[in-house]
Amino acid sequence: MAVFKNALVRKPCRNMVNGLTSAALGRPDYDKALAQHEAYVQALRSCGLDVTVLAEDETHADSVFIEDTAVLSEKVAVIARPGAPSRLGEEDDVAAALRSRYAQLESIAAPGTLEGGDVFRAGDRFFVGISGRTNPEGARQLGMILKKHGYSVTSVPLREVLHLKTGVAYLENNRLLACGEFLDQPLLSAFEIVPIAAAEAYAANSVWINGRVLVPSGFPQTKENLEALGYDTLPLDVSEFRKLDGGLSCLSLRF
Ligand code: GLY
Repeated sequence: MAVFKNALVRKPCRNMVNGLTSAALGRPDYDKALAQHEAYVQALRSCGLDVTVLAEDETHADSVFIEDTAVLSEKVAVIARPGAPSRLGEEDDVAAALRSRYAQLESIAAPGTLEGGDVFRAGDRFFVGISGRTNPEGARQLGMILKKHGYSVTSVPLREVLHLKTGVAYLENNRLLACGEFLDQPLLSAFEIVPIAAAEAYAANSVWINGRVLVPSGFPQTKENLEALGYDTLPLDVSEFRKLDGGLSCLSLRF
C-alpha cells in the first residue's frame, strides 16, 4: 500500500479567476478559493503529510493546479510539459522545489506534452491518459523514463474528459473509483471498479491518502458508497476550483 509523506501545493494567485475552463459555473471567488485552499492544506496535514506551499504565480492563471506539473515516484521525479500553451512554464518553480529532494529528475521534452492530471499510479503500474493535454509523444517519453526505474506504463486514450484523473481515482487494494467512459474501459478491466453515477461524476476526482479519502463535498452517494467499503472519507468544498475544471487531486503533488 502506498505511503505518502509529503505534498507540494501552490497558493492560488489572484489571476486564477482567468484560468482555463469549459465549465459554465461562473467566475471563481478568489477569497473563497483561498479559504478552500487553506482547508485543503489542513486536510493534507491531517492525513500525515508534510506540506510545502509554493508562492503564488500571477503569470500563470492555472498554477494552483500543481499536480499537472510533475509525475512523482520514490525513484524519480518527472517534470511535465503542459499541453495548454498558457500553462507552459508553471513547471519551472516546481522543478526547482523538487531538485533538492530528488537525485533523479527527468523532464518531458518538446514535442511531447504531458500533464500530471493524466497520470495515476497503482502500485508499480502507471496509467497515462492520451488527452487534449497529453500527447502520445509525451506519454511515450514518460513510459521510457518510468520503465527504466522498473515501473510498467499503460496508455489510455480519453474520449470525453479533460484529464484521466477527472474520471478515475485509485483507492489502493486494486480498487478504482470510476465514472463515465472508464466504467467499461478494457485497459482498466484488471481493477475492481467502484462505479460513480453520472450525476456525481465530479466526485471521481477524489484522492486516497494514507487510508483516508478526500472527496468533494456535495456528492452524498459517492461518500456513502466509499464508507460502505470501509473508507474514512474527508469531504472538502472545492467549488471555486471546480469552476476551472479543477478538483481535489489537481491541487497537490503527493509523494
Ligand atoms: N483550469 C485547469 C486547466 O484547464 O488546466
